[in-house]
Amino acid sequence: MTSWLRLSLAIAGACVLASCTGWQSSFNAQAPQADEIRRLLLIFIAVSAVVWIGVMVVLFFGMLRRKRQNQQPLDLHEGFERRAGSVVLIAGLLTTVTVLALSFVSYGAQRTVFANEADPVTIKVTGHQWWWEVQYQADSPHLSFTTANEIRVPVGKPVTVELESADVIHSFWVPSLTGKMDLITGQRNSLQFTARTAGIYRGQCAEFCGIQHAHMAFTVRALPPDEYSRWRHHQNQGAASPGDPLGIRGEQLFRGRGCGLCHTIRGTLAGGQFGPDLTHVASRDTIAAGTLPKTSGNLAAWISDPQHIKPGNLMPKMALQSDEMIAIVHYLEQLQ
Ligand code: CUA
Repeated sequence: MTSWLRLSLAIAGACVLASCTGWQSSFNAQAPQADEIRRLLLIFIAVSAVVWIGVMVVLFFGMLRRKRQNQQPLDLHEGFERRAGSVVLIAGLLTTVTVLALSFVSYGAQRTVFANEADPVTIKVTGHQWWWEVQYQADSPHLSFTTANEIRVPVGKPVTVELESADVIHSFWVPSLTGKMDLITGQRNSLQFTARTAGIYRGQCAEFCGIQHAHMAFTVRALPPDEYSRWRHHQNQGAASPGDPLGIRGEQLFRGRGCGLCHTIRGTLAGGQFGPDLTHVASRDTIAAGTLPKTSGNLAAWISDPQHIKPGNLMPKMALQSDEMIAIVHYLEQLQ
């Protein structure tokens, strides 16, 4: 088997596997907006398949015919030109009708995807190179607060995400919940979805935004309404004070080493705005925008050399003794 054929088969196999299952897939639609996009996708795939098969059949019979003619030069008699003319005309008409029909279907789907329902939960999402700032607006009885890289929403309630960028163009995309929308500096775009099923849905920046574009993921967790309400209530509170001497030392080191110049931990003096809010960092599943699972080892690896894990990001390397690292990680692990 030639290498290009092997490569094509591998890519085709990966596409099939990636699209049919998994938690980041337009085929795994879990919101009415995503249903609409999946329907559109299936229509486009079906129409493209019919067109492709039609072209292949015509090509195949054309080749057979040429073979039968035993490579003789084409007999360009009078009738040939007329027949060729009508074939081109029919193909042109069919193409025009197909494109118009698909445009019409797309327009209908767009109307459904962008039909905003009233009284949504509003969340402002700001794209940064290369992480997501997530701000919940106050909605009685909840206060506003900021978190990062993980969005929690209630099942069955419309959620509007207002999208903006702090630097370059990014794109918000959670294929299981809705379509894609760009985040642009100085312009507020918005997108609405209503998650139907509780679960974790992966999202990914879908617009090339620099060398770590691939490491700009996030998750949307759809929670039953009472669980969501408990979570928001918990977010209203600042960080708990460290409960043991090692945690207290960790907090002192966090402050002493200037971590709070870039990161906020509500309820402490750390109020920096450059990096992700760490008030409840221990409740998140991943660190560095979906790059690594949040484990003690990964937190330590990240703090000691973030440039090795995600080159080009804004976090500097922290020179810490191993006992200092243990204390800081222990402190961060308590920020539930
Ligand atoms: Cu942000 Cu790609």
